[in-house]
Amino acid sequence: MKWAFLHLTIINKFKFECSLIGMMLRHIISMRDFSRDEIDTILAKAKEFEPIARGKESNLLSGKIIATLFYEPSTRTRLSFETAMKRLGGKVIDLGSIESSSVAKGESLADTIRVIGNYADAIVLRHPREGSARMAAEYSNVPIINAGDGAGHHPTQTLLDLYTIMRESSLSELKIALVGDLKYGRTVHSLAYALSLYHADMTLVSPAQLKMPDVIKKDLKKQGASIRETTNIEDVIGDIDVLYVTRIQKERFPDPAEYQKMAGSYRITEELLKKARDNLIIMHPLPRVDEIDPAVDRTKYARYFQQSFYGVPVRMALLAMAMEAA
Ligand code: NCD
Repeated sequence: MKWAFLHLTIINKFKFECSLIGMMLRHIISMRDFSRDEIDTILAKAKEFEPIARGKESNLLSGKIIATLFYEPSTRTRLSFETAMKRLGGKVIDLGSIESSSVAKGESLADTIRVIGNYADAIVLRHPREGSARMAAEYSNVPIINAGDGAGHHPTQTLLDLYTIMRESSLSELKIALVGDLKYGRTVHSLAYALSLYHADMTLVSPAQLKMPDVIKKDLKKQGASIRETTNIEDVIGDIDVLYVTRIQKERFPDPAEYQKMAGSYRITEELLKKARDNLIIMHPLPRVDEIDPAVDRTKYARYFQQSFYGVPVRMALLAMAMEAA
């Protein structure tokens, strides 16, 4: 069965002998750890979970518990993991606010992870430090699912982004523009890498100060990706299937004055969309600030709220995989 194959390949990749109980763990840390076959298998599995995401009953994960540890704000990621788990019959424990947990007393991430692994069957972690999820995986005796590590990676968002493209457009011969804060935005770092596996034609649109980091671009080129860069969205709007818009990541700017200079750099309006292809879809990981005019929500192009729903079946597939239930 294909799903079993996925287990095996992921196990091989993340082979991590837990010294205490000798079990293999499947962490989800970065898109770099996935092959295209593995991604396709997850997307197909997510499709099977869609009816359950819409309310059909399931007990697939009954008796299982996940812990959500969010050291940074979250609405969609935390709540869609929680929804996914509960609709599959499982339970969720939440660290709550950092101020009300022992983190406020100075507990290290490594110790918190070791302790919570005694309570839960998997840990969903969001942390402001790049590399934190990879580090947590070294201390964990249960799977770690990276829900965002600083400006690093956000693999579960990427999988739901790919799923949205698959459902609402097409992943083959895709022409996509990634717009906004490509320097600090972790969603676009993960997504660009995954898109290179699909040989997508990518245009990176950002202010010069917020370009995609060179190290990521080099990596993409090594994958054979076709990428162009521009500061002007009008250059590409008439020639793309997907417009992926991102927020300027205010919280990652070392200097608030620099953020102020970048704020409002882009705004998607109905006027701009007059030049768009008929089949264009607009995506955004959300939250949006001011980069998409609310009037665009009513156009046939908008898919960002649909996209946030797709987080549920995709995270169901990932949870089932992490807990070997599918
Ligand atoms: C994104 C994130 O946290 O990186 N949000 C999300 O998970 N949907 C995007 C953002 O915060 O801009």
